Amino acid sequence: GDTQHGGLRTPIVAVLGHVDHGKTSLLDKIRGSTVIEGEAGAITQHIGATAVPLDVVGEVAGSLVDPTEFDLPGLLFIDTPGHHSFTTLRSRGGALADIAILVVDVNDGFQPQTEEAIKILADSQTPFVVAANKVDTIPGWQIHEDAPIQQSLEAQSDRVEQQFNEKLYEIIGELSDAGFTSDFYWRVQDFRSNVGVVPVSAMTGEGIPDLLAVLMGLAQRYMKEDMAIDVTGPGAGTVLEVKEEQGFGTTLDVILYDGTIRADDTIVVGGVNGPIVTDVRALLKPRPLAEIRTESRFEKVDEIAAASGVKIAAPDLDDAIAGAPVRAVRGRDLDDVIADVQEELAEVAVDTGEEGVVVKADTLGSLEAMANAMEEAEIPIMRAEVGDIAPRDVAMATTVDEEEYRAILGFNVDTLGDAAERAEQDDVRVFRSDVIYQLVEEYEAFVEDIER
Ligand code: GTP
Ligand code: MG
Repeated sequence: GDTQHGGLRTPIVAVLGHVDHGKTSLLDKIRGSTVIEGEAGAITQHIGATAVPLDVVGEVAGSLVDPTEFDLPGLLFIDTPGHHSFTTLRSRGGALADIAILVVDVNDGFQPQTEEAIKILADSQTPFVVAANKVDTIPGWQIHEDAPIQQSLEAQSDRVEQQFNEKLYEIIGELSDAGFTSDFYWRVQDFRSNVGVVPVSAMTGEGIPDLLAVLMGLAQRYMKEDMAIDVTGPGAGTVLEVKEEQGFGTTLDVILYDGTIRADDTIVVGGVNGPIVTDVRALLKPRPLAEIRTESRFEKVDEIAAASGVKIAAPDLDDAIAGAPVRAVRGRDLDDVIADVQEELAEVAVDTGEEGVVVKADTLGSLEAMANAMEEAEIPIMRAEVGDIAPRDVAMATTVDEEEYRAILGFNVDTLGDAAERAEQDDVRVFRSDVIYQLVEEYEAFVEDIER
């Protein structure tokens, strides 16, 4: 496939960070497209993936990347909306992303979702670089369109440079508080033990060559072995989104991280009630450099190889869950594949007891992250599920004896039907947020109130 090059697959790069810190703008700048303008309120509604081939990386990075020095085929970027859970980014045995870019606005510094992202990166041991974005907003900054950052920095006044340093050292300090040693990327020798901080502007393109050079270097140097996989085997991927698509019914947006999926494959997908076995009806590929979530004219393809974003149309996908595994059966025993998917679903099965709160989350990955956070806070869970808060969850919460457990914690979910009214009537507390630790904190405050 076009994502393969010298037998190596494309590294998957997740772009994470707080709302509005510039994740989409950054990718936009790299793509040279205008995805952001097509978005309602410039807020990313869905998760998408963008393949940037090596020659485009070379073009954007200019003198900093010589494409002939690399044998990786390019980079596959996954954009994650700040208000949405990026915790769908799980795969067999850990993180879906091979590398991540943590975007931090130099004016805002670390924010709740920055903290959450860094915790997930640490837990999954995903190597990352920090893009310290919006350096162009430093008062007096002189723009040098698309220039490498050190070149632009040399041309700035002392006053600007001083402010630049102050802001950057603040971020380096925050990284240190989060347990990571970091420095300006050009001073970093070993990117595995030190986090490289790359000052950038998604608006002016300054520092973007550096960012791509650092990512390519990191991937080429430390990940080449992991990229040398047989991409002709039966495909393995992760569901990013379950989506209604006109003319296709319920479809899956999938990131394929291993092997190949073909248009005539039988696949097994993780669902609310266990593995779903179904036959692919169509494999839909966004055109190169186009975003999966805004591209309406999909191209039907016969097969697609890792690493790629692909939309799968097939019957019986209504119960599929975001964050769940997808496997092509081809040549393998169906029962074995079902067992594999079952096992992966069980990996995130949460320890539940007879007494505890009800937890709901939007994806399998976010449910896992919620469960981890609650275990740390020693809050017992009675039921944990992917999905919106339904009346039956309220009914469940009323069965507990202890007042402190009459609660539902919902991460990035809505309430269905009369669930909210019923909770009110039955004295069940409902907590909802799209920041995990805020949910935990609000719940802890509620418990303290009871105990007082
Ligand atoms: P969510 O998807 O909602 O989490 O936000 P995001 O992180 O994708 O941020 P987005 O790219 O939508 O940018 C948010 C706002 O910041 C937009 O108004 C951008 O134009 C602006 N912005 C992004 N990068 C820069 C930058 O480097 N400089 C300046 N001046 N503005 C920027
Ligand atoms: Mg965005």
